Amino acid sequence: MINSLSEFKVTSAQAKENPDTFWSEIASEFQWKSPWKQTLDFDFSKPEIKWFVGGKLNITENCLDRYIETQPNKTAILFEPNDPTETAQHISYKKLHKRVCQTANMLKANGAKKGDRICIYMPMVPELAIAVLACARIGAIHSVVFAGFSATALAARINDASCSMLLTADGGFRGSKTIALKEIADEALVSCSTVNCCLVLQRTQQEVQWNSTDKWWHEELEKVDDNCPVEVMDSEDPLFILYTSGSTGKPKGMVHTCGGYMVYTAYTFKNVFQCQPNDVYWCTADIGWITGHSYIVYGPLANGATSVMFEGVPSYPAFDRFWEVCAKHKITHFYTAPTAIRALEKHPTSLVEKHDLSSLKVLGSVGEPINAEAWHWYDEHVGKHNCPIVDTWWQTETGGILISSLAGVTPQKPTFATLPMPGVQAVLLNNEGDEIEGEGEGILAIKHPWPSIARTIWGDYERYKNVYFSAYPGYYFPGDGALRDAEGNYRITGRVDDVVIVSGHNLGTAPIENAINEHSEVVESAVVGFPHDIKGNALCAYVIVRDMGVDSSTIEKEIREEVAKTIGPIAKPDRILVVSGLPKTRSGKIMRRILRKLAAGEHDQLGDISTLLNPEIVEEIKRQNS
Ligand code: WT7
Repeated sequence: MINSLSEFKVTSAQAKENPDTFWSEIASEFQWKSPWKQTLDFDFSKPEIKWFVGGKLNITENCLDRYIETQPNKTAILFEPNDPTETAQHISYKKLHKRVCQTANMLKANGAKKGDRICIYMPMVPELAIAVLACARIGAIHSVVFAGFSATALAARINDASCSMLLTADGGFRGSKTIALKEIADEALVSCSTVNCCLVLQRTQQEVQWNSTDKWWHEELEKVDDNCPVEVMDSEDPLFILYTSGSTGKPKGMVHTCGGYMVYTAYTFKNVFQCQPNDVYWCTADIGWITGHSYIVYGPLANGATSVMFEGVPSYPAFDRFWEVCAKHKITHFYTAPTAIRALEKHPTSLVEKHDLSSLKVLGSVGEPINAEAWHWYDEHVGKHNCPIVDTWWQTETGGILISSLAGVTPQKPTFATLPMPGVQAVLLNNEGDEIEGEGEGILAIKHPWPSIARTIWGDYERYKNVYFSAYPGYYFPGDGALRDAEGNYRITGRVDDVVIVSGHNLGTAPIENAINEHSEVVESAVVGFPHDIKGNALCAYVIVRDMGVDSSTIEKEIREEVAKTIGPIAKPDRILVVSGLPKTRSGKIMRRILRKLAAGEHDQLGDISTLLNPEIVEEIKRQNS
């Protein structure tokens, strides 16, 4: 663990000078079935990236087996249910190991084998983490789909990876609601011919329909024992697929591999959060997102930490639930999203003050830029000016944190993610693709691979190459803009592509437009983001309809339903404007820049619109807006 600023500087310099030696020393702290022959083999121009080439391992041996010897009774997963009156579960490393082995055997007994893709569509209960680890143990590739996604979105992901199995639950508890997961899964499976087994966990006890491929989880578990040796995996074998949105309608199945992902998530967890043996670490994300994969499951467990899993929402039963849970479990590390902080900031601070938060040592932020107001509220009311805040910048594609301060070790700076992790060579590029030196603003890019960079997009290597390695040859291009101060600290300014981060969720505008265009009355649509108090960004949809005389409130309602159905409720636009045209260039390209300014209410900052094909439409939209 890096303990001081001077050590951080020395380490970063060494990692830059000789990345192979640096990463190979870190990797040797893990248990390998056989050692790697070459630390890194890469060529960004292809691109081809391989880490710890020829090494053999199983990530679950590193997360579980090695700790049942040294700390069998330490809590690995602390489960806090949605309902505060339901008892929390402390699952020790020994118990977790046993449950993972049993579950792995259940998967095998139902036909799963190494290399198979298994889709997991589950609520935030321990069995979700256990299922993820069980897949990893037998070498099946897990593809977790967030339980807020719709049947259409679930089916698209199952089919993209030709999953042979689906793991789901009867339902899930979320605040005062229950979500009918099995019902949604049933609807999805109608169009998924590759799935030949669906294992159903009982959580809500709600009534469900039963199909020939369905089996009850608890019944299947009874049939197997808990002896499950690990499958030996190649360092570069896929560990999982996780979908993220992009600038076309088709989600990108980012592929992460066993060796590099393990080494990098464990290394960054240890150094960013600086967890001590008796600490209780809580990341409030869902395992359906990369944050949950890397920093609820793999990173913390690979370090032998105690990781809290929370089934509920910050507002249930009241807006002090986060603080209540912090006090209840004496949380030391609290890692959440700016959108949650902004939502809670709107409520009286007495809701925070009434709970004893003295156990807190480190706070974290992830998912979008944290604005100054939220940063200071977090620092003052939650951290009592006593807890370092790590603002961690990274992506589904990067697997782990790339830019962040190290808690209490390197300086923090409000609204800045600060410095790259050792071994991460961040640069700023200008529009021509040249590196900017010193202070400046530009496009963020990474010059050298780190171990957990995604290796491909499942089934679409060409797209992987085009999206991430073609715009600026020789670099990995994340799609974010950034500025850098004189000390080298980075502040992420936001996306430079057609992705909008709404409440920390990465949403492509193209898939939403496609969904809207499904409506029979819609001719064309354009979706843009605009600043929002709580969500960071919200979505505004400009829609051209066939008959301008129709009742727009009905259409708006139907459009929202269509979007919820094809993508999920999180993608529903906040504002829908029925317009008679969209501002276009003479070549017919929609001027999204202008639509963004209009949605933000910046009517006088549109720049020169005289070159538009239809400048009059801008006036029409302005009138509608006011
Ligand atoms: C995009 C990636 C990282 C896991 C959760 C989101 C934005 C993420 C920060 C941050 C500013 C951030 C970026 C990035 N983002 N963290 N600390 N500061 N922006 O993963 O869904 O793949 O989204 O989230 O725009 O590209 P994701």
